[in-house]
Amino acid sequence: YLIGIDIGTSATKTVLFDEKGAVIASASQEYPLYQPKNGWAEQKPEDWKEASLETLSRVVRESGVKAEDIKGIGLSGQMHGLVMLDEAGEVIRPSIIWCDQRTAAEVEDMNRLIGRERLIEITANPALTGWTAAKILWVKKNEPENYERCRHILLPKDYIRYVLTGVFATEVSDASGMQLLDVPNRCWSDEVLQKLDIDRSLLADVYESCEVTGKVLPEIAEMTGLSVDTAVVGGAGDNAAAAVGTGIVRDGTAFTTIGTSGVVFAHSSKVTIDPKGRVHTCCCAVPGAWHVMGVTQGAGLSLKWFRDNFCQDYMEEADKQGVDVYDLMGRDAAEREIGSNKLIFLPYLMGERTPHLDPDCRGVFFGLSAIHTKPDMIRSVMEGVSFSLNDCNHILQEMGINVEKMMACGGGGKSPLWRQMLADMYRCEVNTVRQTEGPALGAAILAGVGTGIYESVEQACDALISGDKKSEPVSEQADAYEKLYEVYKDLYVDLKDSFK
Ligand code: XUL
Repeated sequence: YLIGIDIGTSATKTVLFDEKGAVIASASQEYPLYQPKNGWAEQKPEDWKEASLETLSRVVRESGVKAEDIKGIGLSGQMHGLVMLDEAGEVIRPSIIWCDQRTAAEVEDMNRLIGRERLIEITANPALTGWTAAKILWVKKNEPENYERCRHILLPKDYIRYVLTGVFATEVSDASGMQLLDVPNRCWSDEVLQKLDIDRSLLADVYESCEVTGKVLPEIAEMTGLSVDTAVVGGAGDNAAAAVGTGIVRDGTAFTTIGTSGVVFAHSSKVTIDPKGRVHTCCCAVPGAWHVMGVTQGAGLSLKWFRDNFCQDYMEEADKQGVDVYDLMGRDAAEREIGSNKLIFLPYLMGERTPHLDPDCRGVFFGLSAIHTKPDMIRSVMEGVSFSLNDCNHILQEMGINVEKMMACGGGGKSPLWRQMLADMYRCEVNTVRQTEGPALGAAILAGVGTGIYESVEQACDALISGDKKSEPVSEQADAYEKLYEVYKDLYVDLKDSFK
């Protein structure tokens, strides 16, 4: 048996799988996202810790599986978050997470200190507001007393590794998103660290995703029912882990995930960089390979925001019927026409990365009319997120990345309406896999490779992952979306300066 833990933005999900990839037990626990200021986003590492230990205990105890039969644990999680620990391993401040946009000044500092071109050469990406390096500089400048106390800098899932094993370690896929890694060579960059004046000793050792990094501590084994012999492997950032969990481990394959963020991710056996820096290039969980991904900040986040603020009626109805509220919202949205009665939504609630790299832009409903009702607005949110993902897909095409197979995953990937929008906009088939656990399955597969259960990541994916639903593009729908997409793109250009 193997366990995958995914420390997401809305919840931590822990899944126990057998060696064939079947789910034996699964548990998840939610926690809040704090937004102390417009554009800021923080979470408490202690919440991740509590959720991880609680869900681990639940899956181990409820499954009835013997502790010694659980061979390995793989960790996956939201990328880029900054966790700072003191000498005693205690959390110093809340984690500044991936969608936080407070670091525009620090991004400028990075370009000045390292040089834009040189930074791209080493880290494969331009300085980015949401990435960890800029956040470290922000704390150093704005909270010098916290920086002074800091002895360890970790990413969210690597903090959970420390909790489980007592080991400070990270791995190449997530470390790529810190902007301190030499991405082509898969090791920390002394040049970047030196120029940003960040002490190497603050960082953890870097492993490949399937390497064993440690074993479960005795007190954690006691608390959760695990065995001290269970190995914890490197794991991967949530997108790289989702790639493994959906079988995207070879050139020509890609996926779109709609979680809190939205990502279009393509595997690449070589380092491929967008010179304009609109999409990210990172090491992937397959040793010796990379990936390119475009990221939209507010994908599921936009629909969740709309649900939480305006859909009390849907929530009550869903409770009554015992169904998922998003299914009810999607059902009504599917009855509206393409273009939501001329209502266009820009999903920039937390600024936008691909393609604008703009921390200042914000969400827009454009074209509101007295004719509109809630289902138009729900559909419009889903269409706006899809337009933004279409931006990502266009850039991958522009870079010459060949995509023969596009899968959909994440919570939003379960919606037939959302998948159809993507198929129509991309003008290609968008399919799903039967195994819906995405990052948790990917992390468990990495644990299986690291503990010798599977030969390689590719072999495990071939054996465990199988296709499921297909959404095919419909050409009249694709034409209708294409016209709307032009309006969507123009809106940002027209509004850009007004957001400042
Ligand atoms: C990727 C990114 C998000 C997070 C949150 O660059 O910021 O996808 O990993 O899940």
